Amino acid sequence: MKLRPDWILPDLNEARKRSNSPVPRFDQFVIPEEAKWMGQNKTYYISTYGCQANERDSETLAGILDSLGFTKSESPEHVDVILINTCAIRQNATEKVLGEIGNFKRLYRENEDLVIGVCGCMSQEEGFVENLLSKYPQVRLIFGTHNIQDLPTMLYEVMHEHKRVVKIYSKEGEVYENLPVHRFGKTKAWVNIMYGCDKFCTYCIVPYTRGKQRSRQMHEILNEVQELKQQGYKEITLLGQNVNAYGKDIDPNLNFADLLEACAKTGIPRIRFTTSHPWDFSDDMIDVIARYDNVMPFVHLPLQSGDSEILRRMGRRYTRESYLELFYKIKDRIPNVSISTDIIVGFPNESDEQFENTISLVEECKFDNCYTFIFSARPGTPASIMDDPIDMDTKSKRLARLNKIWNQYALEKNRAYEGRVVTVLVDGFSKKDNHVYSGYTDTNKLVNFTGHNIEPGTFVQVRITKGKTFSLDGEAI
Ligand code: SAH
Ligand code: SF4
Ligand code: F3S
Repeated sequence: MKLRPDWILPDLNEARKRSNSPVPRFDQFVIPEEAKWMGQNKTYYISTYGCQANERDSETLAGILDSLGFTKSESPEHVDVILINTCAIRQNATEKVLGEIGNFKRLYRENEDLVIGVCGCMSQEEGFVENLLSKYPQVRLIFGTHNIQDLPTMLYEVMHEHKRVVKIYSKEGEVYENLPVHRFGKTKAWVNIMYGCDKFCTYCIVPYTRGKQRSRQMHEILNEVQELKQQGYKEITLLGQNVNAYGKDIDPNLNFADLLEACAKTGIPRIRFTTSHPWDFSDDMIDVIARYDNVMPFVHLPLQSGDSEILRRMGRRYTRESYLELFYKIKDRIPNVSISTDIIVGFPNESDEQFENTISLVEECKFDNCYTFIFSARPGTPASIMDDPIDMDTKSKRLARLNKIWNQYALEKNRAYEGRVVTVLVDGFSKKDNHVYSGYTDTNKLVNFTGHNIEPGTFVQVRITKGKTFSLDGEAI
């Protein structure tokens, strides 16, 4: 691979740095003259991996492409631009993305003008970009999470100057307001409240791929929420890697409880937020969730491990005991709350006994939902170089056992809904059967139900007839 002088490649050492300098903020999006209308009569397709932050970024990418005159397509066949917005959280994501790029090779052979671009968190990884550059000539554009706003210029260089463009900043990051957005949903919307993460949990790549924690100004967030309400959106989800740390980087008087309350007062029907780290979860937050009917009684509270020594080595800043204390406080003060969690098994050198501590905590908490993962070593993170004598077979067995246990509790919890009437915000038809509608309860339970002439985006009362492990069945009343 021959490196070109105008390529800007990712640099992990730069990405690791944090300074106290104020974050640059921009509120104007300007399309360079030459790039205007470059998308006329052209189409694009976006493939998105990873978390809600990436979903929301894809909506910005789509918004920018729309503003250049492109039209969105639901299929990659016959389009002019394909963007793959990637996730780096675990190794298996890399393999999926490379598989997809491999599949797009056929489209590139059929149309050599096709622009295949790769962006998102994997683009921030040194090894991944080297691999793309040397083995995937069909990829002509690679850009990072800090370069989204440069899409018009980058695309112009690829399409009209026939360059291969690589632009990946590894700096701490900026805040851009007023970038165009093409929302993919008509009922539910994502609202970023902050970007990046400074927690540096020892296993996690996000602080390197997303830069330092940068909160948006409260008035900007509230304007967006008001606008969504006026446009008829029924539900918003406030997004950040640690929503409870909101505001601390811009003003010591700002906090998430105040933001949540201000959002609740806009009167938008449903408000959710994710992710709330167990550290920093204030009593005021619990009060706001309990007091406002439009703040949903649902908390995603990632545990990662039930063992205090593993939590210390993960850099999580809480213990088994303090997690449980918070868990019960939330349960006690918020009626009908449901709580979900994330768990990593097989963290380096996790002993059987330490794993049993996770199992016993799950047995005690009986979570409504768990997202469980086997530890994946992310190059550049401290945990990736920790001694790890535990073999993959043991880790897989632990995962299977954990899944069996939490599934039983989830089923038990869902069965308790049988006979109850719940309010469901309707998404549309169920994925499997178009005589059946689907939507979510306030407690974030997926409900598949029968009914007649129901419009997506409406609230309906549904009687639950059956509780299953991952969903509820019911009938509209
Ligand atoms: N900011 C959130 C987590 C975002 S990542 C929080 O702190 O809770 C989503 C989940 O992916 C994490 O909660 C964790 O369970 C999992 N995860 C992150 N890095 C991982 C890794 N290296 N290996 C396995 N799972 C990981
Ligand atoms: Fe990753 Fe920890 Fe930040 Fe969550 S809080 S994004 S797990 S570093
Ligand atoms: Fe993945 Fe990046 Fe989100 S690593 S989980 S897409 S912040």
